[in-house]
Amino acid sequence: MDIYDEKFVENLFNRMSKTYGTANYLSSFGFTERWRKQCIREIDWNLEIEKGFDLMSGMGETWDLIDKESKQNHQLIGVDISPAMNIKANERINKYHSLEISIREENVLHNDIDSNSSDYIVSTFGLKTFSDEKLKILAKEVNRILKINGQFAFVEISKPKNKLLIIPYMFYLKFLIPLIGKVFMGNSLDYRMLGIYCEKFVDCEKFKIYLEKEGLQVKFCKYFFGCATGVKGKKVYA
Ligand SMILES: C[S@@+](CC[C@H](N)C(=O)[O-])C[C@H]1O[C@@H](n2cnc3c(N)ncnc32)[C@H](O)[C@@H]1O
Repeated sequence: MDIYDEKFVENLFNRMSKTYGTANYLSSFGFTERWRKQCIREIDWNLEIEKGFDLMSGMGETWDLIDKESKQNHQLIGVDISPAMNIKANERINKYHSLEISIREENVLHNDIDSNSSDYIVSTFGLKTFSDEKLKILAKEVNRILKINGQFAFVEISKPKNKLLIIPYMFYLKFLIPLIGKVFMGNSLDYRMLGIYCEKFVDCEKFKIYLEKEGLQVKFCKYFFGCATGVKGKKVYA
């Protein structure tokens, strides 16, 4: 079984779509929402923005935050491979006055998005299901899709380096996430997979290197002692 196979990942999120929102919030004690907000605030919303992409957009969890932070009306395109997640996201696309939202049901690694077309890219908790090779392709796509001076911000649950946090972290990954998955889905296996992905992903340091190799200007971001990490930056050349 290849846990990074895109069909495998798509099926996992199709199954999880019924319970993802609540289980995700409960299993992180609300931290995921806080980290989404921090990620969205890494974008400079004062710059001119016509169009942005939310990659691995899930059920549109970042859209409220973008709507609040953004200073200008603009086009926002969510990209997600899972039809079931997109059905849920679709229920909220008309909720925002300042955002003209649409959804592309696409694999972000093989997408038809125009080059140099976006003022920003954001992405929350969508990195862990990519292998290193796939993260390299994703870095290329970020560089290709962004306009010059286009900005990006990603965040993902990460393995803290602080030894004091390792015990609660392992408890969280190996016990709490599957337990909450079991209570909400009657099946802890899918939620156990999320823990496995997080553990293998470690943090955003490697993704930072891949983005830098593409020529992007990148900064590493650490949230709550490294329990989540991110990257932010911009495209500075043609
Ligand atoms: C953990 S969810 C995150 C959803 C949302 N961004 C959030 O903040 O909760 C990851 C999402 O990435 C999507 N995804 C995974 N691999 C993908 C790919 N190759 N292309 C597009 N979407 C993908 C999944 O379908 C899922 O909806």
